[in-house]
Amino acid sequence: MAKGVMTKSVLAKSVLAKPAAVIGKIDFPVADVRRYIEPGPIVLVSSQHRGERNIMTMGWHTVMDFTPSLVGCVIAGGNHSFELIRRSKECVINVPTTALTDTVVGIGNCTGAEVDKFEKFGLTAAAAEKVKAPLIAQCHANFECRLADGRLIDRYNFFIFEVVKAHVARRPKYPRTLHYTGDGIFMVSGKIISRRNLFRPGML
Ligand SMILES: Cc1cc2nc3c(=O)[nH]c(=O)nc-3n(C[C@H](O)[C@H](O)[C@H](O)COP(=O)(O)O)c2cc1C
Repeated sequence: MAKGVMTKSVLAKSVLAKPAAVIGKIDFPVADVRRYIEPGPIVLVSSQHRGERNIMTMGWHTVMDFTPSLVGCVIAGGNHSFELIRRSKECVINVPTTALTDTVVGIGNCTGAEVDKFEKFGLTAAAAEKVKAPLIAQCHANFECRLADGRLIDRYNFFIFEVVKAHVARRPKYPRTLHYTGDGIFMVSGKIISRRNLFRPGML
């Protein structure tokens, strides 16, 4: 770093940095920051292994790359889905809309170790093209996934999937998706705004 730049940044810190309370911020529990940064939308992850199928609700996922299309997900080890997905190395990420709100909550509050969630919630299983796990027909989009990298599973329950096939409903273009903020509260995607004109072409 150039000397002038360093001096400037040190100066900026010492002169400008103010305690958070002074700029009007309260202390916030670090365990609850999900309320602000959890990405959403909430998805339903369907799986199948040796004839057994299941669905779980998931909020902890992140896009990792476009080509190949990589998505990282946290699947708690206690979930019945964990072993089905770890062993089969496959799943389908299904994107529900607000029409399935109660179903999303119901699926996330019971376990496939005890019930067949397709039956319990009246969902239609459709055949995928590239994986054995079923698609959920009632969802707006279905992304067939194969495990791309399992090295972080043991340490963080973090699965890195490659989306190998995607199916999306023609309409609506911007579905009303659910975004979880913890404590039983969801935000619903709403107003669409565009800033395409401010993007460099390579960033679109
Ligand atoms: C809104 C919501 C989001 C959830 N997100 C996750 C998640 O990202 N990862 C996870 O392991 N469990 C998550 N869960 C919990 C699982 O969906 C829940 O434990 C479910 O019962 C697991 O089902 P299974 O035992 O049939 O696999 C979430 C639940 C809800 C209601």
